[in-house]
Amino acid sequence: MDEIIIRRPDDWHVHLRDGAMLDAVLPFTARQFSRAIIMPNLAVPVTTAALAADYRRKILQALPDEKTCEGFVPLMTCYLTDETSANDISQGYTDGVFAAAKLYPANATTNSAHGVTDINELDAVFEGMQDIGMPLLVHGEVTDPKVDIFDREAIYIERVLTSLTKKFPKLKIVMEHVTTKDAVDFVRAHQNQVAATITAHHLMLNRNDIFQGGIHPHRYCLPIAKREVHQLALREAATSGDTCFFLGTDTAPHPLSDKEASCGCAGIFTAVNALELYTQVFDEENELEKLEGFASLHGSSFYGMGLNDDHVTLVRENVRIPGSIPVSDGSSIRPFRAGQTLGWKLKY
Ligand code: DOR
Ligand code: ZN
Repeated sequence: MDEIIIRRPDDWHVHLRDGAMLDAVLPFTARQFSRAIIMPNLAVPVTTAALAADYRRKILQALPDEKTCEGFVPLMTCYLTDETSANDISQGYTDGVFAAAKLYPANATTNSAHGVTDINELDAVFEGMQDIGMPLLVHGEVTDPKVDIFDREAIYIERVLTSLTKKFPKLKIVMEHVTTKDAVDFVRAHQNQVAATITAHHLMLNRNDIFQGGIHPHRYCLPIAKREVHQLALREAATSGDTCFFLGTDTAPHPLSDKEASCGCAGIFTAVNALELYTQVFDEENELEKLEGFASLHGSSFYGMGLNDDHVTLVRENVRIPGSIPVSDGSSIRPFRAGQTLGWKLKY
């Protein structure tokens, strides 16, 4: 197969930031995807419907005037804190501002200091979300510093998700950016209730790659890439055709100087070639015919949204990933696999 045509995909997990960074990264996502779930972890987190409506306006204003970006829909999420009220969140969802709510355990990752310190305090919020069918998106890592960084996801399933799914059996949950076989197994065992996004970089990396011949800050993200056995489980899950797994890039841009630093930020920037990266993996696994389900069908069905009308074409042709993306404030961003060549090209 040298050409594939699939329904236009959606990206169910994106960090767009704001200001100059937003202007620099948004075009890449909007050219490839019809809709995107926008993560709320700005420096001032998006905790209310008013803040989300304001952020959505800024995103729409920053859209380039290009045919391929026409009709792009940013789907906004509410950043849960210890103070989130069940009423505000339900109101924001029924008003069409929020598509979902994001649970960051406090201090689990970038800009999560205002996250949730005790999930048991949010029972009323989860009950309200369960009643109206509003999805809960989870950053599934424990923050207990005693837990090894490579075990944080598996322990989160054990300590938090298992009881959460029992307590709220109708609450729709997306385990974001899963990185372990444990998560794949958990999602499959709860697939009427729980789904998962899988990033392109977690399909392409294992923990050896972070330290291959030296330390690679542009391969560092959270949850951190795990052993090869987990990477292989993710590749199997993504290409299995199972509807509980779908595309979410977790593209997370940081200025180069914040990545290449004595204490570098977590986040991998895949937006530029997102769809081409995934296509490469599906091709390597000889499962190209499963790409459309993963990229364009399963997510919208889990969220209860309609399918996109138009299609995109990918051709077997070399494409070079740019070495650097400029930002108008003078900084720059280094894409994942910068300067390397991919074997699939999205036709624009
Ligand atoms: O690596 C990550 N970067 N993981 C996250 O959960 C957040 C993200 C970011 O916002 O930079
Ligand atoms: Zn993320």
